[in-house]
Amino acid sequence: MLTTTLGTVELPTCVFNASGVRCTTVEELNTLANNPYVGAVLTKSCTVKPRKGNPEPRYYDNQMTSINSNGLCNLGYKAYGSVQVSNKPYIVSVAGPSLNDALTIIRHFEAEDTSCDALELNPSCPNLSQNSGQLAYNKKNFREYLRRVTEAYTGMYGIKLPPYWFDYQFDNVTDILNDFKPTFVTCCNSLPNGLFIDSETETSCIRPRNGFGGIGGHAIKPIALANVRQFYSRFHGKIALIGCGGISCAKDAFEYILAGADAIQIGTKFMYSGDQVFREICDDLQTIMTGHDYKKLSDFRGQLKENKLINK
Ligand code: DHB
Repeated sequence: MLTTTLGTVELPTCVFNASGVRCTTVEELNTLANNPYVGAVLTKSCTVKPRKGNPEPRYYDNQMTSINSNGLCNLGYKAYGSVQVSNKPYIVSVAGPSLNDALTIIRHFEAEDTSCDALELNPSCPNLSQNSGQLAYNKKNFREYLRRVTEAYTGMYGIKLPPYWFDYQFDNVTDILNDFKPTFVTCCNSLPNGLFIDSETETSCIRPRNGFGGIGGHAIKPIALANVRQFYSRFHGKIALIGCGGISCAKDAFEYILAGADAIQIGTKFMYSGDQVFREICDDLQTIMTGHDYKKLSDFRGQLKENKLINK
């Protein structure tokens, strides 16, 4: 059984799409809604006005990893507010990216009767202005952002976090989150400012921002997995965790749940392989669980064991 819950919201499976991947158009959102292996439908991060995004090529991937600088191409928040998803949770990702724009969007979802079950706030987009850095890397601004957002919005929400590295960062972010009590956090957004170069053409693999972009896929799995574990050990079950970063098979998903994830999102692999990935991961995760004698996710969630094996 792969069902899970985020706060009071029940997901039919613990596997769904990462924001940004095949979830920009209404057709893409409907495809996710109609796939029985997809546990929730999450939108592309939205802005107030529709945006075309950055010039192409703005996404590049291979079997292992990906780079993107899409530039927030999306339909605008009103379009996502009118999408009807009735058979599973519908989560709208909110970019802003300015605080005022984020508030405009959030107020809409507070006031209107939409089919949105939760917001995933995104203060961690790596592809915007580099001058002030990401909101979620700045303690003071992050706190102020959450203060203003929670003043305006009483519904369920989670936060997509950037990758953090050091104990003091996990401690500081946990302090802030404990004050605002989001229902979930998603760990983590792409790693900012990577660079892929094509040695044949001697160009960067993507065009915007001189080739710099957010890195996803297998390369970031140990980092995102560590972020889940670090927060799991600090949250004491009070904030749910969604793992995101380099999950391409059920074994990856199993590891994230052992580390403490309540649900997992698929980004690079979904982009690369398409819709069938959800069925593959769900079926194989069930097989792995049966092999370990686990019936439900709570039988092993967070139960990572200490390594007492002796090297020969
Ligand atoms: C984009 C990329 C992100 O990683 C994100 O969180 C939001 C938007 C983008 O470039 O479109």
